[in-house]
Order: sequence, then structure tokens, then C-alpha cells
Amino acid sequence: MQRARIQSFFDPATFTVTHVVSDPATHRAAIIDSVLDYDPKSGRASHASSDAVVAHVRQAGLTVDWLLETHAHADHLSAAPYLKQQLGGRIGIGAHIRQVQGVFKAVFNAKDMNTDGTEFDHLFENGEHFRIGGLDATVMHTPGHTPACLTYVVGEDAFVGDTLFMPDYGTARCDFPGGDAATLFRSIRKVLALPPETRLHLCHDYPPEGRAPAWETTVAEQRSSNIHVHDGVTEAEFVAMRSARDRTLAMPTLILPSIQVNGRAGNLPPAEDNGVRYLKIPLDLL
Ligand SMILES: [Fe+2]
Repeated sequence: MQRARIQSFFDPATFTVTHVVSDPATHRAAIIDSVLDYDPKSGRASHASSDAVVAHVRQAGLTVDWLLETHAHADHLSAAPYLKQQLGGRIGIGAHIRQVQGVFKAVFNAKDMNTDGTEFDHLFENGEHFRIGGLDATVMHTPGHTPACLTYVVGEDAFVGDTLFMPDYGTARCDFPGGDAATLFRSIRKVLALPPETRLHLCHDYPPEGRAPAWETTVAEQRSSNIHVHDGVTEAEFVAMRSARDRTLAMPTLILPSIQVNGRAGNLPPAEDNGVRYLKIPLDLL
């Protein structure tokens, strides 16, 4: 199988990486984890980040088959519906999103929100195969950060979402609803059982002072030097470290806007009878 061509876009406002994965032979493509720009001060959404992706796709002559989410993000809004309108493609996410939607629907008392995943075009099961042109892609369910997290494996490239970060940053928090540190540890071991040369593409990077943002590592690199989960770290050690660290973390700035939009597959809430859409802020719930 030919290698996927990958073009990645880093959004400095949310530290998110969007990946455009394409088959060089057929020019069919998937866009993984897109970003809708959102200014919480004015409540205004805009499209500069996703327009850069649209421009790349058009310039490269790609046909988009898939708009994939690794999970329902809590730190940025998805631009999948906007990209679908601009470029086509089907919005896909893990089947466990139903469980996540159930939690979000209750939190926001969102009567319009379904809990059966029907806002999405496709719900992926663990082990499912799908095509990006001539490339074969496989879905790994890698819960822990959230219950619905997926890793998409495309040949020797794996898109791990928030399962792992760069070796010097470690791993993602597990204290969101349905998150669990022991579950994340087991998911990470599953990812790190892929061949050592497998390239891991991340959804975020939070570079320390002096290092440029980076979003690609390998299984071998993670196993030798990830500060949280290098080979030899036990599940108990990881859970103790992760739980202690999570107790110190503030909620992400955009968590409330993000989860009520991303739970609707990136669609904004329906307009009220005055024609205006509103995001809700639940008090004393998080
Ligand atoms: Fe996340």
C-alpha cells in the first residue's frame, strides 16, 4: 500500500492540529479534527482556520470523503459541518459518542440533542475498516480521555487524537465526564503495541518554552521517552500520576461552548424564536 500524504495545520489559539490525509494515487482525502474559530468574548464564530484547510484541499485537487473526529473535543469547536458544506464528505466519530451525548444533553438540558449519534453521518466501531481512496484505514477504540476516543490507523500512520501528546508533554487529562486514567493507560498500551516505526500524529501540542510546536512522533519514541508512559511505567503509577495532576487543572476556556456544539456534530444550537442562536452556561455543574 502506498503511504498517505499528510498536510497538518496548527491552530495557535487552541493548540489543535488538523490533519488532511490523502491518497496520492486517487486524490481522495479525509480531514481529521477541524477547528471552527470562536471568540468567547464576543460569541462570534469564524472560519479563517478551516478556510486555510479548504484552500489546501482545492489547490491540491483533493476530493474529501471523510470529516473525522477523534473524539468530542472540549477545547475547540469542530468545523466539520462548515467543511462538509464547502468540500463534501461524511462526518464520522466513534460509536460511543452516544454515551457522551447522553451526558451533554443532560448537562445542557438540550431538548434538540439526540443521544443516538444521528447528527453524525457515520459511527465507527472498534476494528472497523474504511477506505480513503486506495488507502485502507482501521479504527481503534482508545477510550480514557473520553469514552468515545478513537485512533485512526492508515498504513504506517496513526492519528491518535488526545491519547498521547509529544514525549516531553506526556498524556491527556482523564477528568472529563466518562474519562478514566486506567482506561487511558490500557488504550495507550494498545497504540504502543503498533510497529515501532509507526508515525503517531497528535491532535494537540503544548510546546515548552523554546520548542516549536510539533505533532508527529513514533511508537518507538513514545515507548522510550514519553514522560508519563514510557516502557516500564505501571498502570498503578500512571493512574496515581494522572489523577494527582488532573486535580490541579482548570477547565479549558472553551469547554462549555465546545461540548454543546461538538455533541451536535459541530452544529450550532438551533435559533430561538427571535432568530438568534444561544450557547448555554450551566451554573455549578462542572
Ligand atoms: Fe480532547
